[in-house]
Amino acid sequence: MTPSVVLLIVLHLCSLQLMAVAMPRCWLPGKVVQETHHLLRDMGTRFPVQCLVYNSNISFPDSALPSTPANRTQCRQVSWVVYESLREAGLLFGEYDLPAGEGGVNWDEQKFDDFLNLQDRLVEQDGRCLSRVNSSVDLSSYFSNVTAVIQQPDSAACGWQALRRDLIWVLKSALQRHHNCFGWSQAH
Ligand SMILES: *[C@@H]1O[C@H](CO)[C@@H](O)[C@H](O)[C@H]1NC(C)=O
Ligand SMILES: *[C@@H]1O[C@H](CO)[C@@H](O)[C@H](O)[C@H]1NC(C)=O
Ligand SMILES: *[C@@H]1O[C@H](CO)[C@@H](O)[C@H](O)[C@H]1NC(C)=O
Ligand SMILES: *[C@@H]1O[C@H](CO)[C@@H](O)[C@H](O)[C@H]1NC(C)=O
Repeated sequence: MTPSVVLLIVLHLCSLQLMAVAMPRCWLPGKVVQETHHLLRDMGTRFPVQCLVYNSNISFPDSALPSTPANRTQCRQVSWVVYESLREAGLLFGEYDLPAGEGGVNWDEQKFDDFLNLQDRLVEQDGRCLSRVNSSVDLSSYFSNVTAVIQQPDSAACGWQALRRDLIWVLKSALQRHHNCFGWSQAH
């Protein structure tokens, strides 16, 4: 074989390899989810004590994520819970303004913007394949409760804080407990 034929074969193998890496089964890229988690965590302070009273209104259904490392079938559910939580949160961030000023939500603007960009990317690009999953998990009651709390001026700030707390929990638990459900080889 001439060197150029060898080169062609090598290039061909490389591109197959790249395709395999670039198109895994519908998996969210772990690094991006991790970065999204870090932005959420770092954009504000701890959950305010005065917001604890709304715990009875807003309590994320923990059972949405399997309590032990997920198998392949369960991974689909894990990915969907991450996808759906980010998607619904994105709708709320798009529809309602965060209360500003004293007693409002004082998140780091740059980090919040960066979070919104990654959130959008995960939902619109990486997670598109998850939009048609028929999940046995129901997050709609959780999100309608969050909506009710952020619609009331008195409780709005706490509603957003609770949503941020719960998103951090979802992303962190999914990444730690279900590490294998994410794609880790992709560049991002
Ligand atoms: C995955 O785990 C669930 C719950 O433990 C079980 O019902 C299911 O059969 C398992 N699926 C596979 C493919 O192992
Ligand atoms: C989801 O469920 C609906 C009704 O239960 C069914 O018609 C549809 O084919 C399912 N979709 C998938 C992707 O399984
Ligand atoms: C929704 O709010 C009701 C009370 O208003 C509460 O009983 C229920 O547990 C809440 N559900 C979730 C998922 O937060
Ligand atoms: C919180 O839940 C209680 C019932 O548990 C309800 O009366 C109240 O209106 C809810 N508050 C908000 C802000 O949704």
